Amino acid sequence: MKKLNVGMIGYKFMGKTHSNAWRQVDKFFPLSAQPVLHTICGREKKGLTAAAKTLGWSGVSTDWREVVANPDIDVVDINTPNDTHAEISIAAAKAGKHVLCEKPLAMTVKEASAMVDAVKRAGVVHMICHNYRRIPAIAQARKMIAAGDLGKIYHYRARYLQDWIIDPEFPLVWRLQSKIAGSGAHGDINAHIIDLGRYLVGEFSEVCGHLETFIKRRPLPGSKKKGRVTVDDAVITLGKFKTGALACLEASRFAAGRKNHIQLEVNGSEGSLVFDFEDMNRLKYFARGDASDRQGYRDIIVTEGVHPFISAWWPPGHIIGYEHTFVHTVYDFIEAIVKGKSVQPTFVDGLENQKVLEAVARSSKLRRWVKV
Ligand SMILES: NC(=O)c1ccc[n+]([C@@H]2O[C@H](COP(=O)([O-])OP(=O)(O)OC[C@H]3O[C@@H](n4cnc5c(N)ncnc54)[C@H](O)[C@@H]3O)[C@@H](O)[C@H]2O)c1
Repeated sequence: MKKLNVGMIGYKFMGKTHSNAWRQVDKFFPLSAQPVLHTICGREKKGLTAAAKTLGWSGVSTDWREVVANPDIDVVDINTPNDTHAEISIAAAKAGKHVLCEKPLAMTVKEASAMVDAVKRAGVVHMICHNYRRIPAIAQARKMIAAGDLGKIYHYRARYLQDWIIDPEFPLVWRLQSKIAGSGAHGDINAHIIDLGRYLVGEFSEVCGHLETFIKRRPLPGSKKKGRVTVDDAVITLGKFKTGALACLEASRFAAGRKNHIQLEVNGSEGSLVFDFEDMNRLKYFARGDASDRQGYRDIIVTEGVHPFISAWWPPGHIIGYEHTFVHTVYDFIEAIVKGKSVQPTFVDGLENQKVLEAVARSSKLRRWVKV
């Protein structure tokens, strides 16, 4: 079987989820090429060597440029902070590598456009890792909406809530510095529910948003001195889709008790769908067409062989989790590379997402609705 040598840049949180996916995918999915965990890259040798051993990579490199220049590498998988995505992706594309990049795609629309140009010019397969699209319940929701089961869509309501920085003494890590992260809850978690809105409903046409920073100064990592927080802690967004549907989004890192709480509700003329990530194998479906004496939300446990991705896993009712979404992502990515096809979400989706992010931030500054 054809081999695909993978070079992975960044080895912490996302590095771990992606390594697991590259390691697991051939055990469950019928692949057309075998991924090889060729080289893992980070900045510091000791931690990197330990990570390579734990995560199953054969080679290490402390310089991403070396990975990108290596003629043996076929795929570059980018799991580094946001300020590095553009430079690494563009260099990888120029070197003819297929690129999988974490979200948000870039720091700005300008950077994202340059990334799209580079991958298109190079003719490589490009994908942004909005892994939540590949939760079977979400892929099922998309199928049902596309088939018209919900009729005309009126509302997309979504919230993505966390609480990991609610303590004012939590340090000023890279995610709280705009020069590295670009934005806070906005690019980190609002980007995901914007992507799911685009996936399920369509393109945004206009937005009105507000970004808020509740704690303005925080201790510098490993120090008592404080530095300025330069990103948002929370963001609220109202939006309109080109289809005429309305969007209402909330993303916060200050929702005490919420750890990785993603809730979506889509209401259409013929029914509704409700999804809750903390119960991710379930999709709730209300059909207006049901006989009125038995109307109510149905619980679909999305673990039947007919449901997206599920036949590769366990028998019905034997649930799957967070890590599976990354396995599904790399499976589709590998198949797209072998077949020479495009695979959603592409860098173009990343660019469209970035346009929405930028429009919301502009709206917050201008205190008015803004066209995307
Ligand atoms: N898809 C998702 O749901 C999801 C979840 C979390 C993070 N992310 C995204 O993944 C990316 C990484 O986030 P994370 O949580 O894994 O961060 P992290 O801080 O846990 O890990 C970042 C890694 O990048 C490495 N790194 C930084 N600069 C580098 C450089 N110049 N060269 C090589 N390695 C470098 C660090 O050594 C570290 O291994 C971010 O873009 C983030 O937005 C996506």
